[in-house]
Amino acid sequence: MTQRTYLMLKPDAVANRHIGEIVARIERVGLTIERLELTRVTPEQAQANYAEHQGKTFYDGLISYITSGPVVKMVVSGPDAVAVARKLMGATNPKEALPGTIRGDFGLVMDANVIHGSDSPESAEREIGIFFPA
Ligand code: RTP
Ligand code: MG
Repeated sequence: MTQRTYLMLKPDAVANRHIGEIVARIERVGLTIERLELTRVTPEQAQANYAEHQGKTFYDGLISYITSGPVVKMVVSGPDAVAVARKLMGATNPKEALPGTIRGDFGLVMDANVIHGSDSPESAEREIGIFFPA
């Protein structure tokens, strides 16, 4: 089933000049880039995106990290785009992400784990609304 997902290259991916290689992987698997923009995340967008994590020990660090530098935000579509993108991304902790995955190949630590991807079609539509308001 064709779906949309929201993907975001985090500040470490942009700072380390990995935009091209990561976008190439997304296209290579057959997903379609519908929207793409280099931008900064506002504190309001960060809080809305990560509302589920409010109160957790890592929340404050996560918000300050995601707002610390430019990101690349994307809307991506294709068959089962949410799950396919999560498979390309690999495990949340780069230390556990397999080689060949984006986090396994471009990340080293949990605090700077290269890429965000929606975890369900419902989250995707919510997150697209936050980052690409109509
Ligand atoms: P994301 O939302 O960024 O795509 O990552 P995810 O679904 O794989 O992981 P999630 O559980 O939603 O966590 C969101 C982000 O918070 C940071 N985190 N740190 N120190 C920790 O225990 C911890 N747990 C999560 C990570 O940057 C993760 O991507
Ligand atoms: Mg998540």
